[in-house]
Amino acid sequence: MGYVEDVKEAVKFVESKIEKVPKVAIVLGSGLSVIKDAVEVSLKIKYSDIPHFPISTAPGHAGEMIFGKWNGVDVVLMNGRFHYYEGYSMKEVTMPIRVFQLLGIQYLFLTNAAGGLNHSFEPGHPMIITDHINFMGDNPLIGKNVDEWGVRFPDMSHAYNPELISLAEETCKELALEYYKGIYIAFTGPNFETPAELKMARYFGADAVGMSTVPEVIVANHGGLKVLAISSITDRAIPEGLEPLTAEEVIEVAEKTGKKIATIFENVLTKLERK
Ligand code: HPA
Repeated sequence: MGYVEDVKEAVKFVESKIEKVPKVAIVLGSGLSVIKDAVEVSLKIKYSDIPHFPISTAPGHAGEMIFGKWNGVDVVLMNGRFHYYEGYSMKEVTMPIRVFQLLGIQYLFLTNAAGGLNHSFEPGHPMIITDHINFMGDNPLIGKNVDEWGVRFPDMSHAYNPELISLAEETCKELALEYYKGIYIAFTGPNFETPAELKMARYFGADAVGMSTVPEVIVANHGGLKVLAISSITDRAIPEGLEPLTAEEVIEVAEKTGKKIATIFENVLTKLERK
């Protein structure tokens, strides 16, 4: 069977398990599963139970869809995402986003751990993503376009929804949370970047660097979902005097920043619900 049928079967399976389709789906990045602690869980679905769903292998990533209420608002969390560096195709990496789209979800919130390219960024703070650079050398929309899912040449002028960015920013200001705004560049990984690559990324205008999010955001925009994405700045990706970095350090800092990102999401969710 083809990809479209696979996605539809996955959607049918999820639909058969849930009572209500939430408005918002949230993708939890490396070390950011603390966000799930705020949710009153009603149902967990293991990825391995969903027909045709990939299974996450990255450190700091579980593999389940969690349905529940966050501050009274229905949400679904992806606890564990799929990365291109794990060997999945772009279509596999973004399959959950298609499932969300076909379920009828309207908003997609994403998180990730990222290195700070911007000199003024201190690790441990959130960065609201305003735009991205796809430096992965691949694109999930390559191949025959599925017209019922979106147009052949989707617009990316506002890939990160300006209204959601404003709500996130407003929340940070209200709560006196230190935050940054900036451009995210995605490399494939799995290696962290060389100083020369970081220099190039900075020259391109990026403020943070990571190995995810961009494929999901492309598909979400193709499918008409409104996107809010927040990076946890976990390390200084400054080429001059670059310190060796490990995945463990990234996860440790991400876990600390996760609580701040959770607070931002909770407030944005509540603001959206009131509208
Ligand atoms: N580079 C790429 N991905 C990352 C980094 C980084 O410096 N930090 C956290 N994820």
